[in-house]
Amino acid sequence: MKGDIGVIGLAVMGQNLILNMNDHGFKVVAYNRTVSKVEEFIQGPAKGTNIIGANSMQDLVDKLDSPRKVMLMVRAGDVVDHFIDQLVPLLDEGDIIIDGGNSNYPDTNRRVAGLKEKGIHFVGTGVSGGEEGARFGPSIMPGGAPEAWPHVKLIFQAISAKTESGEACCDWVGKDGAGHFVKMVHNGIEYGDMQLISEAYHFLKEGLSLSHQEMQAIFEEWKSTELDSYLIDITADILGYKDEDGNPLVEKILDTAGQKGTGKWTGINALDLGIPLTLITESVFARCLSSLKDQRIEAEQLFNKTISPIQGDKKVWIEAVRQALLASKIISYAQGFMLIREASEENDWALNYGNVALMWRGGCIIRSAFLGNIRDAYENNPDIQFLGSDPYFKDILVDSLPAWRKVAAKALEIGLPMPTMTSALTFLDGYTTSRLPANMIQAQRDYFGAHTYERVDKPLGEFFHTNWTGTGGNTSSTTYDV
Ligand code: 6PG
Repeated sequence: MKGDIGVIGLAVMGQNLILNMNDHGFKVVAYNRTVSKVEEFIQGPAKGTNIIGANSMQDLVDKLDSPRKVMLMVRAGDVVDHFIDQLVPLLDEGDIIIDGGNSNYPDTNRRVAGLKEKGIHFVGTGVSGGEEGARFGPSIMPGGAPEAWPHVKLIFQAISAKTESGEACCDWVGKDGAGHFVKMVHNGIEYGDMQLISEAYHFLKEGLSLSHQEMQAIFEEWKSTELDSYLIDITADILGYKDEDGNPLVEKILDTAGQKGTGKWTGINALDLGIPLTLITESVFARCLSSLKDQRIEAEQLFNKTISPIQGDKKVWIEAVRQALLASKIISYAQGFMLIREASEENDWALNYGNVALMWRGGCIIRSAFLGNIRDAYENNPDIQFLGSDPYFKDILVDSLPAWRKVAAKALEIGLPMPTMTSALTFLDGYTTSRLPANMIQAQRDYFGAHTYERVDKPLGEFFHTNWTGTGGNTSSTTYDV
């Protein structure tokens, strides 16, 4: 019996996906560029399973049923192109190559188009959930050549995470790089969630001087609220984790955050598409700022910076932080879905936003209770422009505002950096203000550059220039928006 699917790349994600596929009765052929790793895998984690190894790319292809399906679990970038170039001469028309790495979606657009000319169907799929997700049920976000979906659907939906009602956290996202785009936004939201939680932890620790035991108990309590999510769960675990000397391990970890790039790509795409993705982009900058450790140590001394502890009823402040965290999280997801909508329209992907929320309901790093509410919001109103306008979310935002403002104001007052919680609040203040001071910007642009402006008392589309100084000319600049 030939293999149902081949997987190239036996790092953490590749090995665990293969074992997951085997658990679900699929015959998998495993290959790795360092061939010795294949034997190690077959004799090790794969021992006693139906998984077979391949000692070359030709051997891999020969052992697969038609139409062949070869999944790449390799580092994003030119490594993917390297394997594609090696595979294409060995494949037949109608065969399928799947990229399960965190590839940048323009690369996937290019690969789908390029391989289509050779009769090969290319799928770019997000796979989320880390090691545990890959092994027992990831969220899978496939996109690319639609002809491939009927041939990969069975495997992907079998191995994916499932919702409480048994729905697979995997569905066809859309054509071209749509799957990798949605995974990229997932990672951007992940950055935002992680930054928000770190700011809440910082406020509880530095502002309220709470112990790790107290903070751990708080995050445990938050599990039974709308904040219930994987990242809240692991944060509770992290706060309770002791080093060998019995002290909290988290306080021994260097405060400089790494990043492999997906959050950055999300911010770049938002700027390209003109979407105010303020929270997620602030979370990327927060990671950049954290990497300036030496400069921060120097500046703290230079500015004699201290954070004064907060007075008052700690329980009231803890509840205020919970509300600020939840409200900010809603803004982050609302901004993320604004970006997904804009990209869907820009690329003609016709994305199903409720389906995206369903795929994120389980298995992925941002899996959380309120993704079910997001799915409901889009089912109730597929055309909703801003998730915060959905009655369920609007009520939470309105009810949370007093506490949210209180936490943001206190953070600013005592010098506690909370870039995402404050930017989310000021975004909402901007989004709910019908008259912003952009008229002053238009006046300034016209004053120094004759860039013209529209008037509130004239029809839209009519542009005006004023000779503000009386000495300028009457020639105006062309009008365009990037
Ligand atoms: C996932 C994760 C994963 C990502 C890690 C590291 O969905 O399972 O998002 O794909 O690679 O989170 O990402 P950063 O190094 O960018 O934090």
